[in-house]
Amino acid sequence: MQDQINQYTTEIEAFAPANADELEAFRIKFLGTKGIIKDLFEQFKNTTPEEKRTLGKVLNQFKQLAESKYQTLKEHFESAVSNQKADIDLTLPGEGFAVGSRHPLSLVRNEIIDIFKRLGFVVAEGPEIEDDWHNFSALNFPPEHPARDMQDTFFVSHPAKEGEDEASNIALRTHTSSVQVRMMESGKPPFRAIMPGRVYRNEAISARAHCFFHQVEGLYIDENVSFADLKQTLYHFVQELYGEGTQVRFRPSYFPFTEPSAEMDISCTICKGAGCNMCKYTGWVEILGCGMVDPNVLTNCGIDADKYTGFAFGMGIERITNLKYVIRDLRLFSENDVRFLKQFKTDIV
Ligand code: DAH
Repeated sequence: MQDQINQYTTEIEAFAPANADELEAFRIKFLGTKGIIKDLFEQFKNTTPEEKRTLGKVLNQFKQLAESKYQTLKEHFESAVSNQKADIDLTLPGEGFAVGSRHPLSLVRNEIIDIFKRLGFVVAEGPEIEDDWHNFSALNFPPEHPARDMQDTFFVSHPAKEGEDEASNIALRTHTSSVQVRMMESGKPPFRAIMPGRVYRNEAISARAHCFFHQVEGLYIDENVSFADLKQTLYHFVQELYGEGTQVRFRPSYFPFTEPSAEMDISCTICKGAGCNMCKYTGWVEILGCGMVDPNVLTNCGIDADKYTGFAFGMGIERITNLKYVIRDLRLFSENDVRFLKQFKTDIV
């Protein structure tokens, strides 16, 4: 039996069928129900226990050899058939497919994030549907204070809870400053974060205003944070974003959640300060609001205002983008016109 197996092994190893029919004949001969392997196993039953010890292994190996030879050749013929069927001309050039491009607001948002990340800021996010506390009250907007009118709000109707007169304290957030509150409420200082997101205001849509737009909020709270830190951080940011030599100036301003408050202008990126349409011939354009976080806000968020100080700032991504790409109509950002979008080179691969 050993001799027989040796002989068949040589035959199998040398087997090279020209087509699938020859392979099928091979299968029937060796692996079929009345095939050689079946027959050998029958013979094996009648051998002595002595012989069984050596032959068992040999026989199994032989069976594996036949099976794997068959399997390999079968796959070979199948793939040859499917290539033939598809009738593919492999020399034809491939078909390109269109990749999208990143939205200009995403490009600029990512650039802003990268700059602040290098300064150790982390990225935080919050919900777009907010309650009055996070959007207004915690940020030191008193209930009847006219400051609330600074921002026209979209309220979200919802059933009044027990004891509530009006179900009007849920709204689409009017600014990303609400995320400051959530961050401070949920952790312990120090905080150093930027918070990008979409915000909503009840405005008629025009080239210069929209009912939704995007902001990036910044917050830095620790012991001994000063206005000098605020100025230097924002100065550095502007140099990175718009290039070395961009001038900055701070003007006193008012926000309920910062004291003192300021607005920051930069020298016009279009005319470099000479005067143009973009800067209304002043040479300066405002890019953000900022200030030292009001101690009332810290207290509202459970932070010890005697121990900690900090600064905050908020900027509109649309405004920052306009100054980079000179986009004169805000509506372009949300119309999804491919002719507009494809002009922005991106790193998408
Ligand atoms: N939340 C303000 C707005 O929407 C922007 C802002 C101003 C944010 C001053 C700040 C800040 O954090 O300190 O107009």
